[in-house]
Amino acid sequence: MLLKDFKTYFEKELSDLFNLEEVRHFFYILIEDLLNENRFVLAVKRDYTLSAHHLTAFKNALKDLKKKAPIQYITGVAHFGDLTLKVNESVLIPRPETLELIAYIKDSFKNSPPKTILDIGTGSGCISIALSQAFPHASITAMDVSEKALVVARENAQKYKSTIKWTLKNILSEKSLDQKYDLIVSNPPYVRALEKIEMSKNVLEYEPELALFVTDKEPLIFYKKISELAFDFLSEDGLLFFEINEYLGNETTTLIEKIGFKKIVLKQDMYLKNRLIMAKVTA
Ligand SMILES: C[S@@+](CC[C@H](N)C(=O)[O-])C[C@H]1O[C@@H](n2cnc3c(N)ncnc32)[C@H](O)[C@@H]1O
Repeated sequence: MLLKDFKTYFEKELSDLFNLEEVRHFFYILIEDLLNENRFVLAVKRDYTLSAHHLTAFKNALKDLKKKAPIQYITGVAHFGDLTLKVNESVLIPRPETLELIAYIKDSFKNSPPKTILDIGTGSGCISIALSQAFPHASITAMDVSEKALVVARENAQKYKSTIKWTLKNILSEKSLDQKYDLIVSNPPYVRALEKIEMSKNVLEYEPELALFVTDKEPLIFYKKISELAFDFLSEDGLLFFEINEYLGNETTTLIEKIGFKKIVLKQDMYLKNRLIMAKVTA
């Protein structure tokens, strides 16, 4: 079947579920991630024919899109800045906001790169791998409570030749850290059950609960635990970075302040939502 003919069929089949712009975006992603071709192949090679193998893959993708599966789980690939990472339903799909966290960290350490880094709740490994590229001499430890997530993260790190120490731990039951760190970073679970109502089906039904949710009663449980540990285990001039719940910027800042941090910066993301926090033990 010609690729251009499948596109027509694909657009028609999904027209009731998504707007045309979204459908075309999905199709271009499939061209890039399943065919390994540039999206312009459609314009340049009008007679591009899908092999039987690729036609099956495109048909399966269409079936999964109808069930509202995220395109990244369908292709098995998520793009995170310059990185192309493997993802599956054991790991959160890296978000653009997290790229802003990386940019903020890089900027904060531009004069003196961190030598030791701890990434808590590493998921796909996106933060650790991006930081290993930014700070190639740093020794990086990445932690997650999910063994399956660490399998994916390890594979991603191997692809980019990032040397990272992986550790399978539940941060909430840790009484201390193994050493002092120049940089502690975390994008922990922060979505409250009450926010489920505003979430789309593709997130709720496919992305790992373990990566997303906290209870309404203790929404800042991870921020409290990680900040307490960081207060004792950041090296002098070390920095703590969080991605946070946009609705809890002030509460999270107050919590970190109470733990004793002297310098705290709350930053907005590109959508002007409170999203990032940087904290330092001394002013
Ligand atoms: C919001 S996801 C972030 C994943 C990745 N760092 C990112 O930015 O895309 C949170 C991660 O924390 C992990 N996690 C959840 N509870 C944890 C715990 N108690 N201890 C350590 N990691 C935990 C989840 O498995 C998940 O990978």
